[in-house]
Amino acid sequence: MSKRQILITSALPYANGPIHLGHLLEYIQTDIWSRFQKGRGHECYYVCADDAHGTPIMLKAQQQGISPEQMIAQTSIEHQADFQEFGVAFDQYHSTHSPENQELANLIYQRLDAAGHIKRKTISQLFDPEKQMFLPDRFIKGDCPKCGALDQNGDSCDVCGATYSPTDVKNPRSVISGATPVLKDSEHFFFDLPAFEQMLKDWTRSGSLQEEMANKLQEWFTDGLQMWDISRDAPYFGFEIPGAPNKFFYVWLDAPIGYLASFKALCQQQGIDFDTFWSKDSTAEVYHFIGKDIIYFHSLFWPAMLEGAGFRKPNAVYAHGFVTVNGAKMSKSKGTFIKARTYLDHLNPEYLRYYFASKLTAAITDLDLNLDDFAQKVNADLVGKVVNIASRCAGFITKRFDSTLASSLAEPELFSEFTEAGERIASHYEKRDYARAIRDIMALADKANQYIDAKAPWVLVKDDSKQQEAHDVCSMGLNLFRVLMHYLSPVLPQMTAQSQAFLQDNFGWHNYQQALLSHRIEPFKALMQRVEPAKVAAMLEASKESLQPQAEQTAPAKTATKTDTAKPVQAIEPIADTISIDDFAKIDLRVARIAHAEPVEGADKLIRLELDIGNETRQVFAGIKSAYEPADLIGRYTVMVANLAPRKMRFGLSEGMVLAAGPGGSDLFILSPDSGATAGMRVK
Ligand code: MSP
Ligand code: ZN
Repeated sequence: MSKRQILITSALPYANGPIHLGHLLEYIQTDIWSRFQKGRGHECYYVCADDAHGTPIMLKAQQQGISPEQMIAQTSIEHQADFQEFGVAFDQYHSTHSPENQELANLIYQRLDAAGHIKRKTISQLFDPEKQMFLPDRFIKGDCPKCGALDQNGDSCDVCGATYSPTDVKNPRSVISGATPVLKDSEHFFFDLPAFEQMLKDWTRSGSLQEEMANKLQEWFTDGLQMWDISRDAPYFGFEIPGAPNKFFYVWLDAPIGYLASFKALCQQQGIDFDTFWSKDSTAEVYHFIGKDIIYFHSLFWPAMLEGAGFRKPNAVYAHGFVTVNGAKMSKSKGTFIKARTYLDHLNPEYLRYYFASKLTAAITDLDLNLDDFAQKVNADLVGKVVNIASRCAGFITKRFDSTLASSLAEPELFSEFTEAGERIASHYEKRDYARAIRDIMALADKANQYIDAKAPWVLVKDDSKQQEAHDVCSMGLNLFRVLMHYLSPVLPQMTAQSQAFLQDNFGWHNYQQALLSHRIEPFKALMQRVEPAKVAAMLEASKESLQPQAEQTAPAKTATKTDTAKPVQAIEPIADTISIDDFAKIDLRVARIAHAEPVEGADKLIRLELDIGNETRQVFAGIKSAYEPADLIGRYTVMVANLAPRKMRFGLSEGMVLAAGPGGSDLFILSPDSGATAGMRVK
């Protein structure tokens, strides 16, 4: 096995919100891989940083009445504490708001500019005249230019699924001040992505990219690559562009450069040679672990920037899917939007590491954290199988055999079967198929338990003539346990350390194949408690409490997912103009039973519903995917507008509308009639 040089990164979390269980999938996935590579003896570094720039961070700090620097300093402390307690062991945790990053961002920008890859163009954008700032798309709301739905996002409509430019929105308003935005010209800087098309195509083919990602890239090539706007006008929290006063790098320009900056800081501390990893001819390996929502940035812009600025490109970008909780998007109102800190207040972090590992593969599929399954799996596998092996053997060794293991192995073949699985398990880890590694390990754990069951050392010890056999069996059991713990060590660092202390042995890839013979061990202490359902329930309850509706209205920045990071204050909408009872009577509202619900291919936000309204079934496309899993809706009763003119959509005819409240995203609530109402009843 030759020694590889490996640099691993996880995406840099935004510095305006807490780490939550969705994030943790990524950091746990990456940390397992990093621990695995280090354990194999490679020269491996794992770096990360806070992503500290951008408009949402600037606005959130303003709302809190502190400087962005103060806010990001506080967040960095919290993020690092969370990561540390979850066993996510970065070699360096940095910030994109750092001197190293500014230097590297300037360098890369200047090289790109010198090579003719930066173009300047004056563009017209929506500007908030009250706040005196240009408005990013997400800070604009208005009516959909296609279907007229009120209060839609600046770039897409949740009702009809249309995407459009913010300048096309009807009755636009600034979400920050409520003012009507005006168009204003400004010169922007663009990175010439199309110039890198051929290089990116070659890279896509040569790199070890996941198949789904390579396909996605292929689609983007077919759609055609666009120039990328990399500048933002003041006021902005970021780095000023050299030679361009009041113009700043867009946050996504300097964010991935943060990978280099974090590594550079590590190099300076530890005397590692930066160029060995980042020069064009580097033979070191570089891998970025990211979520599926940021593939575009990492597989197009980032390799192109590196290429254009004379650096090497990553060997691969590994994307993972999104975490759902109990089958649905994490939701603040359901208490399933769980912060790392809330989890830590109630549960052992290694439970989550194990559960994620047992479900993670190299594919970009979403991963459901089903909390019943979580408790069941951890209890059955870790407590019921792995810890059980040690707890059934250790006591006898301590009490009856002078805390010392037997001098020979009772079942050398069984032991070999365990150690021979090592390279196979290693190759599953290497390929990021942790689910398979865990399956193999648990199959071995079953074998170890079967062996102990068959030998029943608790019976043997009672028979004076069978003391040697009892000693041999318990020693064998602990040797099997040791091999299993070695295999689990990338996933369970804490339990591994406890096991090493108990066995008085620093096991690893260098020595796991040699059994412990005539070896003194320490008394056994419980390595892991069972998951208590009451604690899971308490965690969900606490997750609800931490987001009272009251607080949600006054505390502006709701932290968290991609789309709603620092979503501004959601004001109570003003009551609409008075209508007569006759006007209201025109609306025919019906109780509808959701006979069927399914996702709509090509429309992330829509669910296709079949609504039973008594005498007929209607097809309705509802923009509620962000808050509901289709399967959870089937069989529910709701309320629909039954006499709305049908509308032809890209996906088919929509014959009505279901009613829902809430600002959008995961905070959307469809109506339910009181129980007893049946399909077709009119709501009056
Ligand atoms: N700041 C950017 C990344 C810049 S990298 C140069 C960002 N930050 S984030 O805080 O929104 O997300 C950090 C990582 O966590 C991303 O890879 C994102 O995909 C991942 N996840 C955030 N929510 C997630 C889930 N619910 N599930 C799984 N991963 C999720 O994007
Ligand atoms: Zn629309």
